[in-house]
Amino acid sequence: MLTEKQRRQIRACSKDEKSYQTLLGIITSHQKSLENAKSEFLSVIGHELRTPLTAIQGSLALLAREVPGPLPEKAKQMVEIAIDNSIRLRDLINYFLDLQSLESGDAKLQLQAVELQPLLHQATANLKSFAGKRQIEIRIEEKSKNVWVTADPGRLMQVISNLLSNAVKFSPSSSCITITIDSRGSMGCFSISDQGPGIPESLQPFVFDKFVQADVADSRKSGGSGLGLSICKAIIERLGGKIDFTTTEGIGTTFHVELPISAPQTVFDLAREKNLGG
Ligand SMILES: Nc1ncnc2c1ncn2[C@@H]1O[C@H](COP(=O)(O)OP(=O)(O)OP(=O)(O)O)[C@@H](O)[C@H]1O
Ligand SMILES: [Mg+2]
Repeated sequence: MLTEKQRRQIRACSKDEKSYQTLLGIITSHQKSLENAKSEFLSVIGHELRTPLTAIQGSLALLAREVPGPLPEKAKQMVEIAIDNSIRLRDLINYFLDLQSLESGDAKLQLQAVELQPLLHQATANLKSFAGKRQIEIRIEEKSKNVWVTADPGRLMQVISNLLSNAVKFSPSSSCITITIDSRGSMGCFSISDQGPGIPESLQPFVFDKFVQADVADSRKSGGSGLGLSICKAIIERLGGKIDFTTTEGIGTTFHVELPISAPQTVFDLAREKNLGG
């Protein structure tokens, strides 16, 4: 998409309305083919990286199981490090390709009526042991009951899992994470609040940008690629919603998500489908 400034520049170079429209058409079509070439290039690169990486992981797994023969203790540790890093690299490639397909519009979303409470409950259950290890309690508060939104359930689960795993990752031991479900006008909302360190002021304007992490030493400790929030934003925007946060250093962080409420008719239809065994 051309920015308003670029359009003004094109207009300034055009003799009249007709030449402006012609020039605009040529540039827009060039831009579209560049975007297509970029997305094709990235998916080829992704594929070319994934294939040898799968072979590397296969060989490392055989070494770790000592199939070729027993390994000295030192070599076993080195193989473990190589395996951990190959997993990080694989996740990074997958996240990056996922983000690329969301941004280019290639990723197809399956929209349907989704109830927020069961999805948030499921995400909480998935993280229970990770949170439990540090005595972190996760509570769900329903300010509004039966909040249904229009979303792709798998993609929405991806957003919730990243926000919740961030909250757990950055929470101190023996603290509490609160998930709140609410509705406001035509939007269904949920928020995830933690009692962690907060997001540093210098990072706040860039937190949804790619590969952004607070402190290198700390982020390495907690792992991750710094792509999670970029993916969340891309998904929520594709779903016609909004994602934002409020944070206070030393007190905690709350991520807020809102999505269009699903029409009661759709909910009624889904309930009827279930009763009919659909
Ligand atoms: N709840 C939070 N409290 C404090 N800082 C946060 C919180 N959520 C995100 N951040 C900051 O924003 C950064 C980016 O988060 P994001 O989810 O994009 O990446 P990540 O969690 O580091 O890695 P990934 O999600 O790709 O595994 C984090 O590394 C952290 O510095
Ligand atoms: Mg994350």
